[in-house]
Amino acid sequence: MRPIKEGKVREVYDNGDSIIMVATDRISAFDVILKNKIVNKGAVLTQMSKFWFDLTKDIVPNHMLSTDVKDMPEFFQNDEYKGKAMMCKKLTMLPIECIVRGYITGSGWASYQENGTVCGIKLPEGLKESDKLPEPIYTPSTKAEIGDHDENISFERSIEVLEKEFPGHGQEYATALRDNTIALYKKCADYALTKGIIIADTKFEFGLDEEGNIVLADEMLTPDSSRFWPFEGYEAGHGQPSFDKQFVRDWLKANPDSDYLLPQDVIDKTIDKYLEAYALLTGKELCV
Ligand SMILES: Nc1ncnc2c1ncn2[C@@H]1O[C@H](COP(=O)(O)OP(=O)(O)O)[C@@H](O)[C@H]1O
Ligand SMILES: [Mg+2]
Repeated sequence: MRPIKEGKVREVYDNGDSIIMVATDRISAFDVILKNKIVNKGAVLTQMSKFWFDLTKDIVPNHMLSTDVKDMPEFFQNDEYKGKAMMCKKLTMLPIECIVRGYITGSGWASYQENGTVCGIKLPEGLKESDKLPEPIYTPSTKAEIGDHDENISFERSIEVLEKEFPGHGQEYATALRDNTIALYKKCADYALTKGIIIADTKFEFGLDEEGNIVLADEMLTPDSSRFWPFEGYEAGHGQPSFDKQFVRDWLKANPDSDYLLPQDVIDKTIDKYLEAYALLTGKELCV
C-alpha cells in the first residue's frame, strides 16, 4: 500500500470506508526532517492520541476505530506498524484548524506585545510571556494550501468559511467546533496538570460522518499538535522548554554544521522524554 498523504512525520493510507494514520519514528525540528529515527516515537504519539480519544469520548465522538493492526489489512501486520497505526472512520473534513490557547506564547505573545490582542481577541493588560490566560481562547485558522502559512481568522469568519462549503450550516458548525474545542481543552488540560504537564495550547480537527454528525479527527493532544511544558520549573516571564524537542533544538543550535544528524545520546534523551510524557499522562508504561 502507498500512503495517499505523506507529511513530515505522519502517513495516511486509504482503506475504503476508513483511513489508516501512521505516526512514523521520524522527527522534525525547525521544519526539517532529521536524518535519525527516534525508535518508538511513532508508537508513543499514536498511543497518546488513543488515550485522549478514550478520555473524551463523552464530550464528542471521535474517528478512532482501532489501534490493533490485526484489525487492519495484512500490510500493517508487522513490527513496522505495530502500535503506530490507527484505523479511523473516513470523514468529510471541516476546513478549520481549531486552535485553543490556555497560555500566552509563540505568535500569540508576539502579537499581544504589539497591540494587546491575540488573533483579534483583546486580552487583559500586564500579561507576561507564558502567563496563564484568565480563560482559554479559541483562535481558529484556515488550512493553507501547501507552502502557505495557515491564516488566522475570527470566529465570524469561520462561520462564513463553513457556510460557503456547507450552506445552511455555517453558524451551527462554527459554534459546535468552538464549544467542543474549549470543552476538550479544559478537560484535558485540567487532567494533564494533575500529572505535572501544562498543555499551553493545541489544535484539533473535526469532520462530518455519513449522518452529518461532527466527529473529532486527526491526532489528539500529542507533542506534535500541542505545546506541552513540564509543570516543574514553570515560571511566567520567559519562554518555557518544550517537553519533547528541547534537547534536539538546543543541540542543533549549538551544532549548526551537523547536517541534521543527531548523536545517539540526544536521540536517547529525546525518546526518554516522550516515554516520560506518556507514562506521566497515562499512568502506564508504553507497551506495543
Ligand atoms: N478521519 C479522517 N478522515 C479524513 N481525513 C482525515 C481524518 N483525520 C484526519 N484527516 C486528514 O488527514 C490529513 C493528515 O495529514 P497531515 O500529515 O497532518 O498533513 P496536513 O495537516 O499538512 O494536511 C489532514 O489533511 C487531516 O485533515
Ligand atoms: Mg496535519
